[in-house]
Order: sequence, then structure tokens, then C-alpha cells
Amino acid sequence: MSAKIIDGNQIASEIREELAQKTRVLTDSGVRPGLAVVLVGENPASVSYVTAKERDCEKVGILSRDIRLSAQTTQEELISLIHELNEDEEIDGILVQLPLPQGLDEEAVIQTIHPDKDVDGFHPESIGRLVLNLDGFLPCTPHGVLKMLEASETPIEGSDVVIVGRSRIVGAPLANLMFRKASGGNATVTVCHTRTKDMAEKVRQADIVVAAAGRPNTVTADMVKKGAVVIDVGVNRVEDATRKRGYRLVGDVDFESVKDVASAISPVPGGVGPLTRAMLLWNTVSSAQKRLERS
Ligand code: GUN
Repeated sequence: MSAKIIDGNQIASEIREELAQKTRVLTDSGVRPGLAVVLVGENPASVSYVTAKERDCEKVGILSRDIRLSAQTTQEELISLIHELNEDEEIDGILVQLPLPQGLDEEAVIQTIHPDKDVDGFHPESIGRLVLNLDGFLPCTPHGVLKMLEASETPIEGSDVVIVGRSRIVGAPLANLMFRKASGGNATVTVCHTRTKDMAEKVRQADIVVAAAGRPNTVTADMVKKGAVVIDVGVNRVEDATRKRGYRLVGDVDFESVKDVASAISPVPGGVGPLTRAMLLWNTVSSAQKRLERS
């Protein structure tokens, strides 16, 4: 039997509709949610992510301030821009697209963003709040993964979860979200990484597999328990001469084989990606809501 496909575009579109409604109410109250998106340099993947984010803002009615800087921008210029955006009353969220060009200190940049505007959820304060189960911005991809599991009616509590990858953006925060004592949590979580012994054996135990390693074919059918739910976070460009642009996007999961073993699976493209962007809008709207409450 072939797995149910978890349609990220559909789930994201429902979330955007809900956010558009909230944005109308906020805007009518004089607080239009505003997001600043800062892109330094011209990394092609980053340009397409950022363009998609800007388009999403437009769909929902969020003010999008697009700031494109040259790859020669200095650390001081970038930090000074972030200070300005921290003070800007029209801006509820600041996103600096990563990776930054060589020579710029990502950690210092992330830490300069005011935690009240940290809609990426990357600031140490946001991560600390997540770990301690305090109110705060959740990082967009892990939050999107939880939304996908919720939409596909996958029980998380008590389940065995294996996350492949321990990145700061996905694996590490998602592991914390899924084992913490809270809604969307209470799972038993194993995190696999490059030093894991016999990853296949660990993945085979999982009710839910999340692949976030950044490498095609990291998860194959022989590693997946029959009926498991598989979420593919990977976005990899592989050369493909049959495509006009010369490449195609694939995830970290061997979709064609795993779909015959899993009970549900998210595709790439059209899976986690749209949810990541929707949760960025979610954080921006919730930041604007807090601004209204403070005013
Ligand atoms: N680069 C790839 N994904 C992301 C993301 O979610 N946020 C930021 N700021 N940069 C990214």
C-alpha cells in the first residue's frame, strides 16, 4: 500500500488563510504586522527562499520590508541595520537569511536581533524559552513539522521518534519540542548524527522519522518500520540535465521506495518548505499581536 502524502502546500494555505484573517483584524486596529527580510549577497537558493517569503507576506497582508545588501557588506553595517530595525515601530519581525557570506559572523548577527522580533526563533533567548517550555517564538521548520504531524493526525505523545540531524535550525530544537512536557511533545526522541552507530537500526524502531541531514537518500525503505510516518526536511539540489534550470530538488528520503512502507510521508518539494514559510508569518502575526497588547 502506498503512503498517504502529507500535502504541505495545502496545510500551509489553510494556515495562511487563518493568518490573513488575524492580519485584517490587527491592521484595522492600527497594527499592521511587519516583517523585515534581510538578504546579504546573491546565493541562488537564498534569493529564491527570500522571494517566496516576500510573496507569502503579500498574500496574507503583512508588510514586507525587503532589504537586499551586497556580499561586500561589512559586519558593522549589518549590525547597525539590525539595530535600526530593532527600533523600527513598523517592524514586528526581523529575518536575516542564512547562510551569510564568508567573513560575516552569523552568531553575532543573530544575537543582535531583539528577542521580541526574533521570528526565526534562532536567538539564544528563544531557544532557552523553547527548552524551558516558556512562551516564545518557535523556530519555523520544527514548528512546521509539528503542524504537519497534527494535520496528518499522527499521535506524538508516547511515540518513538527518530530525528536524523542535530542542526541548530531543525534537529536540536525539534528534539526538544518533541520530548518536552507540552502539547506536541511527550515523545521519546532519539537524535542520530554523523557519529551515530548503526543509524538504520535506530531509524527502524521509529513510529515517526524526521530526516534533516541535508543529504539525499539518507533514509531508505529498508530503514523504515512498516506504517511509520516520515517527514522529509531535506532540500537538496541534484543535477538534472532534463530540467531547464539544470537541477531538481530532492529531500533526504528516498521517496519512491519509502512511500511503499510508510503510512504517511511528506514530499519534497511541497512538504515542509511551505510550512516553514507559513510559520514565519505565524510568528510575525503573533509578534504584532503582542505589540497591540503593549500599546
Ligand atoms: N536559511 C535556510 N533556512 C532558513 C530559515 O529558516 N531562516 C533563515 N534566517 N535563514 C535560513
